Amino acid sequence: MPDQYAVVGNPVAHSKSPQIHAEFARLTGQDLTYERLLAPTAGFRATVDAFRARGGLGVNATLPFKGDAFRYATRLSARAREARAVNTLKFEGDAIFGDNTDGAGLVNDIIRNLGRTIPGRRVLLLGAGGAARGVIRPLLEQQPECLVLANRTISKALGLAQDFASGVEACTYAALAQRHFDLVINATSASLAGALPPLPPGVFAQGALAYDMMYGMGDTPFLAYARAEGVSALADGMGMLVEQAAESFLIWRELRPDTAPVLKLLRQTAA
Ligand code: ATR
Repeated sequence: MPDQYAVVGNPVAHSKSPQIHAEFARLTGQDLTYERLLAPTAGFRATVDAFRARGGLGVNATLPFKGDAFRYATRLSARAREARAVNTLKFEGDAIFGDNTDGAGLVNDIIRNLGRTIPGRRVLLLGAGGAARGVIRPLLEQQPECLVLANRTISKALGLAQDFASGVEACTYAALAQRHFDLVINATSASLAGALPPLPPGVFAQGALAYDMMYGMGDTPFLAYARAEGVSALADGMGMLVEQAAESFLIWRELRPDTAPVLKLLRQTAA
């Protein structure tokens, strides 16, 4: 019987993770299955317990279960502890290792797929929810010139920045006037509502990359705005999705799959 993995979510039908991991397995010659598990909102633990009982070796947790997965783990990586969220669980006998590969996925997408460098760059992160928290440490590790966190509710941005000892500056959107950034990452959920964070004009420096962590919706309001501001380097979160999956695969199988063909395939099927 092949090794079993799964993604747990609610909803989960839309998840591209089974397709991504099936491709990784094919490309690396690994014998495994990867399924979708729909868990009731209050049923993450029971769903994962049942999957482990039938031999499951690991799961990805997606919305709204990254906090549940964090609590389910008995051992956490440093980056998961800081993110306070887990997207990857690996079952090791009675022990349950929890990690968070979202931030590494973002950074790897920016560097490997988009060919950008982060050291010495001015980075602006929009939003102060779970999506933003999950990527701060991996961004800081790249040693940007600055990492500015802008949020509508300033208290949330200040609280989040404080959790990361130093290196993160919190501010309001209005305070971004007259400032310029080489990399602007939208980690708000505004795109889901067809909305745009209230950015003052001019935040994109010459040659900037505009990155929306959302994917699968074409130009988000944020990307459309960036385009109108003259930005030509635009990216959605599909590369991040594939890269975070590759990091999960590495944790489970101790082998890093090539992501480029999988990203290409996903973009073709999405088109
Ligand atoms: P997630 O876990 O996806 O980050 P979240 O914790 O609900 O979700 O956080 C959503 C983020 O999107 C918050 O930073 C939120 O800003 P507030 O903290 O001020 O609420 C941000 N957000 C959502 N809709 C927005 C909008 N229309 N404009 C600007 N920011 C928005």
